[in-house]
Amino acid sequence: MNELRIAVPKGRLQDEALAVFASAGYTIPTEADLRSRKLVFVRDGVEWIFVKDADVPVYVEHGAADAGIAGLDQILEHECSAYQPVEFAFGRCRMMLIAAPGEPRLTKIATKYPRITRQYLDARQLRAEIVPLAGSVELAAVLKLTSHVIDLVETGETVRVNKLEIQDLVAEISPRLIVGRNAYRTNGKQIRELIARVEAACNASIQS
Ligand code: PRP
Repeated sequence: MNELRIAVPKGRLQDEALAVFASAGYTIPTEADLRSRKLVFVRDGVEWIFVKDADVPVYVEHGAADAGIAGLDQILEHECSAYQPVEFAFGRCRMMLIAAPGEPRLTKIATKYPRITRQYLDARQLRAEIVPLAGSVELAAVLKLTSHVIDLVETGETVRVNKLEIQDLVAEISPRLIVGRNAYRTNGKQIRELIARVEAACNASIQS
């Protein structure tokens, strides 16, 4: 039986997530492995699964993975109750309220994060319709599908080239190591070792 199942987010966090586990001394799948269509790889007793970034908290929350790396955006959106023992320095960004210039009245917000957007509105006693989209969310403000969007801003390039403007900070976002509560109870030794090794790898990378 494998000792641990770890969920790796495909997409923009994948390379840095794998680099963390490699620095922590785990044998990670190779480039050639990743080019195959396989989704599960077993290396030295660890089962690595590759899922969309939005799905990492879902696998961990339901115990289908013991641990994983997920952005706070997806952790909050999925109301994931997993432990978050390590916060990473890479991949940090901000979730912002964005609009077309001219400050249109807040009537509709397009977003990949309907739950966070609902909480943002409720906390400010604001009313607006939420329009869930799957990607390229800024386009909704460009085409006036909605008055605003709530989305991640990393370099600011998407906002800049589409001539949009930032109106408010919704949340500071960072990737975290997440560990399922059940995994911690039933697999404590391996989980504690995982956390210690990932923490040590992070500290070493900060000092170098
Ligand atoms: C993300 C995010 C923004 C963009 C921000 O989208 O949703 O659209 O990156 O990055 P920037 O500030 O560096 O320009 P992603 O590329 O993940 O694709 P998506 O819009 O299809 O989700």
